[in-house]
Amino acid sequence: MICSPILVAHLVFPLLLSQSSETQRPYAKRAVVSVSRPASEVGIRILREGGNAVDAAIATAFALAVTHPQAGNIAGGGFMVVAPPEGGPGFQNAKVVDFRETAPAKATATMFEPKESVRTTKGVGVPGTVAGLELAHKRWGKLPWARLVEPAVTLARNGFPVEKSLAASLNKVLPETVKAHPEFHKVFSKPAGGEWKTNDELKLPELASALEAIRERGAAGFYTGKVADLLVAEMERTGGLISREDLANYRAELRDPIRVKFRGYEILAAPPPSSGGVCLSLILGMLETRPARKGDRLDPDNIHFLAETMRRAYRERARWLGDPAFAPLPPELLTPSFAAKLASTIQRDRATPSGSLAGDIPLAAEGDSTTHLSVLDESGFAVSMTTTLEETYGSRVVVPGGGFLLNNEMGDFNRVPGRTDISGNIGTPANLVAPGKRMLSSQCPVVVIRDGKVRAITGSPGGRTIPNTVAQVLWNLLEWDMGARQAVDTPRIHHQWFPDQIRLEGATSRQRINLTRELMKRGHKVVNATQGDAHTIWVDANGKIWAAADRRIEGAASGE
Ligand code: DON
Repeated sequence: MICSPILVAHLVFPLLLSQSSETQRPYAKRAVVSVSRPASEVGIRILREGGNAVDAAIATAFALAVTHPQAGNIAGGGFMVVAPPEGGPGFQNAKVVDFRETAPAKATATMFEPKESVRTTKGVGVPGTVAGLELAHKRWGKLPWARLVEPAVTLARNGFPVEKSLAASLNKVLPETVKAHPEFHKVFSKPAGGEWKTNDELKLPELASALEAIRERGAAGFYTGKVADLLVAEMERTGGLISREDLANYRAELRDPIRVKFRGYEILAAPPPSSGGVCLSLILGMLETRPARKGDRLDPDNIHFLAETMRRAYRERARWLGDPAFAPLPPELLTPSFAAKLASTIQRDRATPSGSLAGDIPLAAEGDSTTHLSVLDESGFAVSMTTTLEETYGSRVVVPGGGFLLNNEMGDFNRVPGRTDISGNIGTPANLVAPGKRMLSSQCPVVVIRDGKVRAITGSPGGRTIPNTVAQVLWNLLEWDMGARQAVDTPRIHHQWFPDQIRLEGATSRQRINLTRELMKRGHKVVNATQGDAHTIWVDANGKIWAAADRRIEGAASGE
């Protein structure tokens, strides 16, 4: 996703407000929704051929590595919530595939200078995506692996029409890469020169070859052999830390989802090393202490209370969360009584200054590129997957000869031990760099169930805004009875404890100015920003499937 929050808000909101009541055709059988039309179409084709939701998610994810290089990837990481219908009404078989990147063995807690850029090979975490997709395939896949990688190979080899958001993003980034990232410039420039336009054709032949190796040899085609050699050669050439052993030793993990109960629904969410599920548990737990549906969804009292829940959830996130192998999750954090205790400190009409919440631990900055896809197949099997390179195009390092972008996920660690400041750095131990450690994430793919049925699948990009975006989409669906379209379109807010401010979509627009003033009266600082890209599937009480691509950026639902 490309976030240029402040500028986009004004353009987007009149559109959202005029279209939020739009009705759309529901699907009866299955749906895939992602940021890219060709990728969603790959997913639906796989379902039609008899693949299940995991097959479709894998094929869509590989296609996104080609058609949405801002965030789709083979050298990034992410989380996949897998909810197969077998396993009883509680979906007891549900699992989370954790394919978060890890710090290389040579990494140390003091490897970064305070202001050092992570758009370098030093900023790259050991990639997890291909191992994660292979693990999911081995456990649940139905169609052959090669069949799932093939559409991505074809898109990369034969070319694909550049979508509007990709054209705009490349036109913005390419001039910055001439000197800093020449391989990026070579691979992504228009062969005939000039600016990219919507529907121009982009071919990525080297990426096609890397994908062919993965198609033929599975994860071994990425973590060993020629592709791995190219990756390690780039590390050695430029001072990066990832070795052949780091690649060969990478393992994706299967984890139990965090289960959050809210207003009769159950939300299956990613556990640490993602903060997503914990933040959702805290925010929704605090919201549930109030009577359901108080006032208008966007009235100042509701938004004030919501922001205060976020402020408190993000304080706990900063204090406790990191890779669970290094920083075990205190179990009481997930209890309703813990959320209720936090909620009891919320003042009805006054902002609580973040500093007063034991607050000398502000948070580190995060970047602008991640993407989410949601899949539901005819058997009621749901997959919710978020994947990222961290910033848009990750490190912007394209592996010469490999044609693929490397993440810069090391930026998600607390980069300087003990160093905290109000601009957003944090030095607490839970998320310091250590060899083999997974950096804390905010990715928050979720599947919502009720009475043995999947009812919602959603997630979003947006760095630390992600759990807040997902909490609001869920609040809209599960408490405010909105349909998918309205739940996704409704303006969002973000508070992350530090900086002590609310980001409000359309804050300065005519429709929101009164809300902004009322929040300021309660002592909040309010800034204007767009937030997230939550491609959502909602199954209504009659079993109709509503798929809503988020129109804040671009996206496409495909289904039948
Ligand atoms: O895993 C994380 O939390 C971040 N690397 C995600 C970055 C992100 O979402 C940026 N997107 N807009």
